[in-house]
Amino acid sequence: MDQNAGGPDPITLRVNGQEREVRTEQETPLLYALRNHLGLKGTRFGCGLGLCGACFVLVDGHPTFSCDTPVWSLDGKEVTTIEGLGTAAESHPVTRAIAETQAAQCGYCVSGVVMAAAALLEENDNPSEDEVREALDRNLCRCGAQNRLVGAVLIAAAEMRAEAGR
Ligand code: FES
Ligand code: FES
Repeated sequence: MDQNAGGPDPITLRVNGQEREVRTEQETPLLYALRNHLGLKGTRFGCGLGLCGACFVLVDGHPTFSCDTPVWSLDGKEVTTIEGLGTAAESHPVTRAIAETQAAQCGYCVSGVVMAAAALLEENDNPSEDEVREALDRNLCRCGAQNRLVGAVLIAAAEMRAEAGR
């Protein structure tokens, strides 16, 4: 029996290249739909107020706070979560560089950082340090690892350029 029977009408979201249905209220934050309905737990709840960046996903390629984005606003849009950026075996260059340089401490902020950095490097794979800092400006790291994370993004950018033969 459908446990959601009698609940709200389903809402279709396009997540990581697939159409997914969630039965929830129109105002439900995307973060809750991802974590609680779709089982995508890589996106984190930090402040819930659009202040920390732990919940960043990409909406049509732009870093977006999923904690204050209602599902109704995503009609026709493409959502990308950390799970859509790569796998453990084939991870995104930013994820790889953060792991290889052990840039993170507790790791709680990392998926949000990776999303913001991935969006930057998609546009510009040769950013200055200042450009990386600006791109990560809305990501708070409570462990104080921001400088190491910026360094890891610069390493990832260099790897991406090398892979592209530039
Ligand atoms: S949890 Fe969304 S910005 Fe902090
Ligand atoms: S590594 Fe702990 S919050 Fe950033």
